[in-house]
Amino acid sequence: MIEMNQLRDAFSNHFGLHPRLIVRAPGRVNLIGEHTDYNEGFVLPMALDRGTFIAAHARADRMVRVYSSSYAAEDRFSLDAIERNHEQPWSNYVRGVVKGLLARDLPILGADLFIMSDLPLGGGLSSSASLEVAVGYAFQLLNNIDMLGEELALLAQGAENNFVGMQCGIMDQFTSVLGRAGQALLLDCRDLSYRLIPIPPDVRIVVCDSGVRHQLVGSEYNSRRASCQEAVQLLRARLPRITALRDVSPGQLAEHADLLPAAILPRARHVVSEIQRTLEAAEALDHGDLSGFGRLMNASHASLRDDYEVSVPEIDALVRIAHSLEGCYGSRLTGGGFGGSTVSLVRVGAVEQFTADLAARYREEVGREATILVCSPSDGVSRAALF
Ligand code: GLA
Repeated sequence: MIEMNQLRDAFSNHFGLHPRLIVRAPGRVNLIGEHTDYNEGFVLPMALDRGTFIAAHARADRMVRVYSSSYAAEDRFSLDAIERNHEQPWSNYVRGVVKGLLARDLPILGADLFIMSDLPLGGGLSSSASLEVAVGYAFQLLNNIDMLGEELALLAQGAENNFVGMQCGIMDQFTSVLGRAGQALLLDCRDLSYRLIPIPPDVRIVVCDSGVRHQLVGSEYNSRRASCQEAVQLLRARLPRITALRDVSPGQLAEHADLLPAAILPRARHVVSEIQRTLEAAEALDHGDLSGFGRLMNASHASLRDDYEVSVPEIDALVRIAHSLEGCYGSRLTGGGFGGSTVSLVRVGAVEQFTADLAARYREEVGREATILVCSPSDGVSRAALF
């Protein structure tokens, strides 16, 4: 837990003045609907009770000074010359968002920012999206700018797509802005319409960070995205009206499978089946059918592992162990993949034993320490303090 007084004092010690305010933007965990957002499909994530906090103060000039306590490093740049920082990649999320605000012709001045986070960095829980959203919201408040939640999410995503160079979809940023306490969010990534679905009180969402981080996440992610686009292009030979894999049903894909090369077909099969699973999972949650929801999570994992090939042995081990434990309805890889975290749906009464056993057996079988978080669905970005 990050204390607001601790963050205020850390800001004051570093910059020699008091901050004006603190914003908080949550990370997210996706319950189901993986690698569907950039195919204009559906996702079902929730905002976490952990995230990025930024203490901020406006400046009268056009300088931005930003300190990251996670990296124990400071970056400085002028609003008039925002280039990519190759020495301090963490700062590009900040720079990208500020550049996006300027590109929208919004009247902003410089700022002093002090960042703290209680999310595992790079753990598949959207630490970067929450940083982008927190930066955008801090500038919005400091400069009295009105912006709709959807627009803030698109600004944050744009920074990652155009400045950082990761062609991510909209799920993470949208959830960090518009998540709601106690609820999962069924988002239609085609038109950004969404519906909140309560998480029943008799289950807990357990996130388990495998501790594995892969270097190639960005390039593998972008190449999966390119495969999906290629699939759409090829399928258009017989389905001329489709514009995204969202428009293709599992039956149509099976019928026209001969159009796709062997390396592309399983990628498309994952996306098309995952979109269907996500809609079915939302319905199961509506009806409090936790067993049905869990079965769909398990099927999602198998599809990510075998067809989309974004899992790793450590994550497969966590999922396998979770499946064997008492009180677990379902478990799967969450987020982009190549390491990161799993998400499990666990009966309330079984949670303590579940987390203890999961950690112990992972240590035994894989020889690594897992970080386990029992999470509550939380509100999206907000002002956490005003001084
Ligand atoms: C990352 C991206 C998201 C989404 C997931 C996979 O988290 O940032 O946009 O594509 O991977 O579902």
